[in-house]
Amino acid sequence: MSKSAEVMAKKACEAMQHAYAPYSKYKVGACVSAEDGSLFTGCNVENASYGLTVCAERAAIFALISAGKKKVTALALVVSGDDLGTPCGACRQVIREFAAPDAPIYLCDSRTQKIVEITNIETLLPKSFGPEHLEK
Ligand code: THU
Repeated sequence: MSKSAEVMAKKACEAMQHAYAPYSKYKVGACVSAEDGSLFTGCNVENASYGLTVCAERAAIFALISAGKKKVTALALVVSGDDLGTPCGACRQVIREFAAPDAPIYLCDSRTQKIVEITNIETLLPKSFGPEHLEK
């Protein structure tokens, strides 16, 4: 595994510690890299009005875009507990907007902070809708 991927896994784990998840108790952390190698993290932020909850992946991606970056070149994801996390449907669509089909998505183990599985958005969201469908 590349050094930068391992760093992303660790940063996702750090971000997970900041999750605000008093309702679900399910903590999530994400780290995304931009085209210049800069890294941005996010955690899930819940709300007493449940529907306002923001997922970790989207928090991280919106931070990247807010910093003026254009592309997500990789994403690391970690969730609390023993099971591997996987991005929800809404986050898959947002990843689809900014990541290349084959950009690595690292699913990480919260206990070891290691990458256990590598996937990509083409696999997670096949035959997807995206910006190019509107550019006719
Ligand atoms: N969550 C994420 O942060 N990312 C996902 O892809 C799945 C769900 C959060 C939202 C909520 O705070 C908690 O996990 C349970 O759904």
